[in-house]
Amino acid sequence: MSSSLSAKTTICAIIGNPVEYSLSPAMHNAGYAHLGLDYCYVGFQVAPTDVAPAVAGIRSLGIRGTSVTVPHKTAVIPYLDEIDPLAQRIGAVNTIVNTNGILKGHNTDWQGAILALEEKTSIAGKNVILLGAGGTTRAIGFGLIEKKAKTVTLLNRTPEKAQQLATELGAHYGHLTDLPKSLKNTDILINTTPVGMQDTINTSLVPKEHLHQGLTVLDAVYVPARTQLLQDAESAGANVIYGYRMLLWQGVVQFTLFTGVNQAPTEVMEKVLEKNSMRPHNSLIDDTTKKNYAESDR
Ligand code: ATR
Repeated sequence: MSSSLSAKTTICAIIGNPVEYSLSPAMHNAGYAHLGLDYCYVGFQVAPTDVAPAVAGIRSLGIRGTSVTVPHKTAVIPYLDEIDPLAQRIGAVNTIVNTNGILKGHNTDWQGAILALEEKTSIAGKNVILLGAGGTTRAIGFGLIEKKAKTVTLLNRTPEKAQQLATELGAHYGHLTDLPKSLKNTDILINTTPVGMQDTINTSLVPKEHLHQGLTVLDAVYVPARTQLLQDAESAGANVIYGYRMLLWQGVVQFTLFTGVNQAPTEVMEKVLEKNSMRPHNSLIDDTTKKNYAESDR
């Protein structure tokens, strides 16, 4: 955020329901402050029935960049003027760029996952398993196909859902119980289910004896950062990628789209996420710990 807001300050925002725990405002504002940009990023809680007027507001108020989070990533699409072709195929928009009143929808979620993976491994020619068959699976699945993974296999609690998505992607599918036998020949394993967060914090869908060296494991869950799956993967000698890396890289791509700055201040943005992600979520801690964290943030 700029140190002196004025009528000329460019506004960016996140819309979602809820948005209060989003780390995006802190991440983007830290980047603006570091570069001295006259930008400010805020959060707007938007009810599902208010998506159309919210998008109209983005246009009429000249909000330059908008991040879109759950549950609005598909609902915003009909109200935009242009959609990036891959965002269209994914069927989800997490980023809106407003250029003189023309709103274009993008999807930076898939790029976030791909860039997080590419910090540690190449993707072309690799065998990949995705756990889940929801919206996150979908965005990452399209990204993996785009980057020429050799095989992509969706394993899900409800295999019919995996089958439907696999057909669209040109991927394989199966039930979670196929995991042990499939893992042997797998290079990259990605959890795109919510298992590992909040009430399943000590849980992993992957029996740890099947994790192995030579496997790269990414968990889309980012609070806590060291999920049970990633702890088990570390113990097995696998290559581990924290979920907040996805959040970082999708935000870095957004930062460039919103500001036109090609070299986003990645390290500054990373610090914000690391600090917030490496400690327990607000909903999981008592009031005294919350107060201590708030004081250490000043
Ligand atoms: P999003 O769209 O945000 O990625 P979602 O649509 O809620 O999330 O999808 C979550 C995925 O995680 C689903 O594939 C879901 O499995 P089902 O298709 O069987 O519902 C999976 N999932 C959620 N909770 C799970 C659990 N406790 N065990 C196994 N899979 C789970």
